[in-house]
Amino acid sequence: MTEPGLALYRMSLDDKNAFWGECAKLIDWYQPWEKVLDDSEAPFYHWFSQGQLNTCFNAVDRHVNRGAGEQVAIRYFSPVTQTEYAVTYAELQAQVSRLAGYIASLGLVKGDRVVIYMPMIPETVYAMLACARLGVIHSVVFGGFAANELATRINDAKPKLVLSASCGVEPSGVVPYKPLLDKALEQATHKVDHCLILQRSQYQAELLEARDADWQPAVCQAQAVDCVPVAATDPLYILYTSGTTGQPKGVVRDNGGHAVALAWSMKHVYDIDAGDTFWAASDVGWVVGHSYIVYAPLLVGATTVLYEGKPVGTPDPGIFWRTIEKYQVKSFFTAPTAIRAIKREDPNAEYAAKANLSCLKNVFLAGERCDPETLNWAASKLGKPVIDHWWQTETGWPVAANLMGIDPIPIKAGSPARAVPGYQVEVLDEFGEKVAAGKSGNVVIKLPLPPGTLTTLWQNNQRFADSYLSMYPGYYLTGDAGYMDDDGYLYIMSRIDDIINVAGHRLSTGRFEEVLCQHPAVAEAAVIGVDDKLKGQVPLGLVVLKNGVDISDEQLHKELVALVRQEIGPVAAFKLVSAVQKLPKTRSGKILRGTMRNIADNKSFTPPATIEDPQTLDIVRTALTRMGYADSLLQTHT
Ligand code: COA
Ligand code: AMP
Repeated sequence: MTEPGLALYRMSLDDKNAFWGECAKLIDWYQPWEKVLDDSEAPFYHWFSQGQLNTCFNAVDRHVNRGAGEQVAIRYFSPVTQTEYAVTYAELQAQVSRLAGYIASLGLVKGDRVVIYMPMIPETVYAMLACARLGVIHSVVFGGFAANELATRINDAKPKLVLSASCGVEPSGVVPYKPLLDKALEQATHKVDHCLILQRSQYQAELLEARDADWQPAVCQAQAVDCVPVAATDPLYILYTSGTTGQPKGVVRDNGGHAVALAWSMKHVYDIDAGDTFWAASDVGWVVGHSYIVYAPLLVGATTVLYEGKPVGTPDPGIFWRTIEKYQVKSFFTAPTAIRAIKREDPNAEYAAKANLSCLKNVFLAGERCDPETLNWAASKLGKPVIDHWWQTETGWPVAANLMGIDPIPIKAGSPARAVPGYQVEVLDEFGEKVAAGKSGNVVIKLPLPPGTLTTLWQNNQRFADSYLSMYPGYYLTGDAGYMDDDGYLYIMSRIDDIINVAGHRLSTGRFEEVLCQHPAVAEAAVIGVDDKLKGQVPLGLVVLKNGVDISDEQLHKELVALVRQEIGPVAAFKLVSAVQKLPKTRSGKILRGTMRNIADNKSFTPPATIEDPQTLDIVRTALTRMGYADSLLQTHT
């Protein structure tokens, strides 16, 4: 590793208190911390104990106070509604402080929860910041999830208030949110006191219930309120992410560590300072949206682009490049899937060639494994460094990345480069021994995790410990498998659990299986993620029918696809499902999903010695071949 990245990395691990204590100067505090790293409750670590701050103050008010009120904070661009406008820091402060006033007028105080179910519009950012202003904990639910998923999250977070909008706008048309919200509230066992609904011009929601209020008049009449000091260790938000079961995990983020780590990452990883324009083309419903559309750019006083549209089809594959030119974006962040979608429609990058991209310094990719072909295509067509970097909802900010703000190192396609300061990443075998360079194993991070990473799972310390800390005491289990080369570059190759990644969206195969088993004809189901040229992976289901059931393949397919869409949501992108007589299992009854995945993707595999019935492999292969996977001619057994 070259200086100064190496020096920073070493210091971040050798003298955590000095390193993070220095980084904390990027943030304004009402009261300084007593301890930078508090390990008194290890393995539950706390950062900046006894410190007091407010995340909204740091993201909004302090920029107004330093005279940057007229600078643009948010550039909202919505090709799907033909809307475009800028929000200055002063306007942002006015909007957020009044919305916070309305929330406070309902009686919500520090520690209460608010669920936010909203599309990619500035009001969603106001909603998150208004909660932060009061110390109220927000939980944003992605708009592509169905009512049932929203209900599950409402039951877990137990909000007093839900903030929503009348609709989202997808290229396929307007998606009314209010009926989904009403259904979720009906299904949820937790009862919500209030809903505030933003009426969008594309669709007017009916505000039927006494609990429903209309956003615009309610907020116009509200009194602006000031920021409430909170403890650094108080939760800022809960963000649900897929685990291996159907019950999502409520990742808890604190205020202090989060603000410090994000502010540090903006400069060091993304090369963004106050006044620069940063664009993360994701959705606020995901961690990328939380960290790099909302909090990080605003914490450092940059301008963030809020984009309601797709990489292609809104209206064409040139929209990203024109937007970068128009807003003079310096660093751009998207998912490899988006690049693959653009490449598919514009293989010679003619649209990119037409745009003046001289403002653009770096392109960052994350959310899924980035295949070298996609990275090389983007780098050659754009003529810019394309930076693969790796992280997850749990970590909240990059674990491995090329530090473009201080010390860029050579790019190796297929690798998200090296561990970022703060993260001691290791690759271990099943016995907890470090593996040699180039050898695959479980990718883990030595405790303590740095500031900004999850502190626990919402009201479930036990699940946090069981899921992440129990396999290798003293380490955090990332759930990813991969290897490190001789130069310390990481290669993240696959998951070790039943999580799949569809177009950068993380989904649980366990949840798919639960839903498929709700169908009256289905006795048993197995869902795997199979390779997909556009989305990286897509879910594929195989079901065993109950004895005596009489249903045509076509009808079964139609009903199961509709069921998953209704229960999980359109984001599940579930289209592949077929019936088989029997699933491959071990003698102890464990379904051999890994083996099925290898068959589907034409990878070599060794059937486990414990397989109950080897013939099931042929049954599955025949079904998968019918579905366009598992080319049996290519199949090799080892
Ligand atoms: N609200 C309601 N519905 C939504 C939604 C939202 N916020 N987001 C997605 N959906 C729906 C879509 O309309 C689509 O529905 P359909 O089946 O009726 O067409 C479905 O969910 C799947 O959407 P999507 O994943 O966007 O797939 P797509 O086939 O429409 O588009 C891509 C493919 C590659 C263009 C798209 O997946 C993409 O932009 N990916 C980038 C992902 C990304 O940025 N991830 C963030 C991680 S960094
Ligand atoms: P999420 O929590 O939705 O952000 O998904 C995180 C998971 O996506 C990681 O655990 C990885 O499995 C995968 N992932 C994200 N970024 C990368 C990357 N750059 N390379 C490989 N896998 C990635």
